[in-house]
Amino acid sequence: MLKCAALLTATCLVEGFAFTPSPTVSLPILAHSSKPFRADNPRRLGNLGLLSTKKTAFESDYASSIDNPSDYWFNLAKEKLDWYTQPTKSLTGGLATADVKWFEDGKLNACYNCIDRHIENGRGGKTAIIFEGDEPSDVTKYSYTEVLARVSKIANMMKSNGVKKGDVVTIYMPMTPDIIFSMLACARIGAVHSVVFAGFSEDAIADRIAASGSKFVFTSDGGLRGGRTIKLKQTVDNAIAKDRAKVLVEKVFVFKRTNEDVNFVDGRDLWADDLLSSQSTECPAEVMGAEDPLFILYTSGSTGQPKGILHTTGGYLLYAQHTTATSFDLQPDDIYACVADAGWITGHTYICYGPLLNGATSTVFESTPLYPDEGRYWDMIQRHKINIFYTAPTAIRSLMRFGDEPPKKYDLSSLRVLGSVGEPINPAAWDWYNDVIGGGKATVVDTYWQTETGGHVALNLPGVHEPKAGSCRGGTYGIDLAILDPKSGEVIEGNDVEGVLAISKPWPGMARTCLGDHERYKTTYLQPYPGFYFAGDGARRDSSGYIWVTGRVDDVINSSGHRIGTAELESSLVSHPLVAQAAVVGYPHDIKGEGVACYCTLTKGTAMTDDLRKDLKQAVRSSIGPFATPDMIIEAPALPMTRSGKIMRRILRKIAGGDTELGDTSTLADPTCVGVLVENAKA
Ligand code: WT7
Repeated sequence: MLKCAALLTATCLVEGFAFTPSPTVSLPILAHSSKPFRADNPRRLGNLGLLSTKKTAFESDYASSIDNPSDYWFNLAKEKLDWYTQPTKSLTGGLATADVKWFEDGKLNACYNCIDRHIENGRGGKTAIIFEGDEPSDVTKYSYTEVLARVSKIANMMKSNGVKKGDVVTIYMPMTPDIIFSMLACARIGAVHSVVFAGFSEDAIADRIAASGSKFVFTSDGGLRGGRTIKLKQTVDNAIAKDRAKVLVEKVFVFKRTNEDVNFVDGRDLWADDLLSSQSTECPAEVMGAEDPLFILYTSGSTGQPKGILHTTGGYLLYAQHTTATSFDLQPDDIYACVADAGWITGHTYICYGPLLNGATSTVFESTPLYPDEGRYWDMIQRHKINIFYTAPTAIRSLMRFGDEPPKKYDLSSLRVLGSVGEPINPAAWDWYNDVIGGGKATVVDTYWQTETGGHVALNLPGVHEPKAGSCRGGTYGIDLAILDPKSGEVIEGNDVEGVLAISKPWPGMARTCLGDHERYKTTYLQPYPGFYFAGDGARRDSSGYIWVTGRVDDVINSSGHRIGTAELESSLVSHPLVAQAAVVGYPHDIKGEGVACYCTLTKGTAMTDDLRKDLKQAVRSSIGPFATPDMIIEAPALPMTRSGKIMRRILRKIAGGDTELGDTSTLADPTCVGVLVENAKA
């Protein structure tokens, strides 16, 4: 990125996939694979049994979901959700016209479907949430009845402080049950939640408040993670001190977690716990249209500012319910734990909405996999007898380093399904997860999806599809995956093929728009390949029809499962007075999947120093958040450009990864710059 506004859009998406499909697409998984992918060596199925019955049932259900998605989902919507007014319409609109709607004339409430109806069906005493606090001894269980009482109080507190149906509420909270309860309370009164992951910086919060026009913020005094305190209220204060947020924010609801002293602004800040004590535990659920917004979640794209991905009510809920039930083979008495953060889509769909819609027991995990030691997950699984455990490959890799001893100390025999999400799972991590954690009995389920898809779109269904380490197999119910030729856009049929991944039919959980920018939604997802939803990933289909995601084909980095836009990183680097130009790429990283490498061209006469590197890292931490901190900062007197002025990121990726096979550099305007970068990358 150059310091020139006109050039900010130069890396448009179309250029993003003007790539030669593999091997130039970065394949982070291969870097740390000790064994080749088992494309032709399927794994055992695990202990789920019933294979033939389930497989036949899946095949016929899948066929009807693809042949007639409208009827398929309509029947499920009536069966699986409770409506105030049943819909008469199922699918309307389409991908080509960017106007997909589901169950448009139906009326329902998300919170009612997650909580009240289970109580009305006599299951109010069942544990809805197990809270596993930062300290392993800090465990609280909440029944469905208790959840309803707390959620209703929060909802009443919001109403009595001016929050109305349709208002956007920003939630910047630690991983305590109150983050889930606050989301549900918003849903109860028809407010739209916009959860901002608690690792984001004050700038990032201010941007999201401003972009969504949010007048209300939920936060807590602080957060606890790995024995450390995170100053959340202070970060919110700093965010609201910025003009773009200051003009909007009217009320800040502050929950207590750390009980530390915090700054308090009279008239603006409110202690939630004080207000809640006098609120009623009864709050009628608002009657919402199926296409009314349920939430916004910001995510990074290939260019510009983060996009506010908007999910609506009926379709999202049905998809969350259905994928949670089917992808994890969820059984009524299962104890389920997804250890993601509620600040990401995984937490929305698979900690909050999906499990609760199914009346399941869902775990809210506040800590880290390494606190107080590397046995934390396994200890937790043993204590709660967790049956379904859902985490990311980066966490598995970081725990594998400690060997087999830590998990072997615990009884993990309750485990039946082991989910993986965020990036392809490399064979070494898959083997460890399968053999050491699952004891060869649990089924590893690799779930591929995105913020925009609302729920899983590709996976090996437990009991149905034989897992293959590293492959997410293929489309789940209603998902007709296609591999397209990136240049012509034609569908590539058959096996042993590679291209870009797309979906050919609308599904209920798909995002409907980008908040305030439908044009961006269209140009990013629906116009690149008319008639298809374009996922932004490359993929290949192996000889037996299994899909292998090869990584993003746009300028998005996937580091430790966090999705980071290179354009955002570049803009924070060039905001430093000594940086004239910056190009950011991902490169293979043993633990994170992809590391973040920043090539910076400094202003004339400036040399790279350790202090400057520190400053630049700080610039990124404060404009985005600590999770985006660069792993490498490389001085780049010049960047490798094509003659048409496009940065050759493929070469930058290879240099950062220490790959000496740089491929064809003859199309570069100045091939000599490459040697300098190779030297500087070693520094
Ligand atoms: C991107 C979406 C959806 C929850 C977590 C991330 C990558 C995600 C897999 C997987 C291969 C995966 C893709 C996708 N990704 N899961 N199982 N196999 N790649 O959500 O932040 O919206 O990121 O994560 O590149 O496009 P997100």
